[in-house]
Amino acid sequence: MTIREALRNAAERLELHRISNARLTAEVLLAHCLSVEREYLYSHDDRVLREEESQCLENAIYERMSGVPLQYIVGRQEFYGRYFRVGPAVLIPRPETEYIIDSVLEIRPSRCRILDVGTGSGCIAVTLGLEIAGSEVFAGDVSEQAVRMAQENALALGANVGFVCMDVMDGVSGRFDFIVSNPPYVRPGDISRLQREVREHEPPVALFSPEDELGIYRRLVEGAEEMLLPGGYLIMEIGFGMEEKVLSLFETGWQKLPTKTDLQGIPRTVIGRKANAG
Ligand SMILES: C[S@@+](CC[C@H](N)C(=O)[O-])C[C@H]1O[C@@H](n2cnc3c(N)ncnc32)[C@H](O)[C@@H]1O
Repeated sequence: MTIREALRNAAERLELHRISNARLTAEVLLAHCLSVEREYLYSHDDRVLREEESQCLENAIYERMSGVPLQYIVGRQEFYGRYFRVGPAVLIPRPETEYIIDSVLEIRPSRCRILDVGTGSGCIAVTLGLEIAGSEVFAGDVSEQAVRMAQENALALGANVGFVCMDVMDGVSGRFDFIVSNPPYVRPGDISRLQREVREHEPPVALFSPEDELGIYRRLVEGAEEMLLPGGYLIMEIGFGMEEKVLSLFETGWQKLPTKTDLQGIPRTVIGRKANAG
């Protein structure tokens, strides 16, 4: 079978299974199996697939039709212009999380010690480490597997980040200019509202807040009160409808900065600034 035929056949089958963006998905899967970029498929469309390449594509189509997210099949996701390795132990980085990066960069810190809580693939910590020259970045996650994957990403992308396995900020010492976090914020009762790909394949520890909806945010604010330097920032991603409740956690000693909204106008990134001493 040629590349052209394989693509047509794969796209038709994916379409039949109501997989969104069937043609694009077919291209990404085939490019992955051939270890080439998508453009190659068009410049070599009459190349005949080898047996193992056809088998790889067949397996990949089957996985995708079974609901496995495309990113877990190909093992990577782009975030802020770089590719991060991902697998079922970590959340697939989302575009809205890039607002955390924008928020830090807009503040344009001169000195910069950063702590990323719940680092997952390491996308936030690694990106900030690479975007801000001279920054000192630390990151942690309760999941050992996530910490390992974040370490791999930091190594592959050349970022100098210190990683630790930790429960929120327990056991972390030192003071920071920024504490950033995209914590798990889905209410367990909302599981049925999630897409099948998310519900069945992304790690529950990365999705669901284990306590009450605000539990992890409360711990982040309390921890940041201790660990932020005067004038430092706590920047957190929030879920739909959470802005007011999360902002209410910033009490005396905090300045609330304007929340960033995503492209749909949903408030996504809350920012609190710890008051300067004196
Ligand atoms: C929504 S994911 C975010 C992952 C990554 N920062 C991102 O934005 O793609 C939340 C992460 O927090 C971690 N996590 C959950 N509970 C935690 C806790 N109590 N302490 C530290 N990390 C936690 C999960 O393992 C997961 O990696």
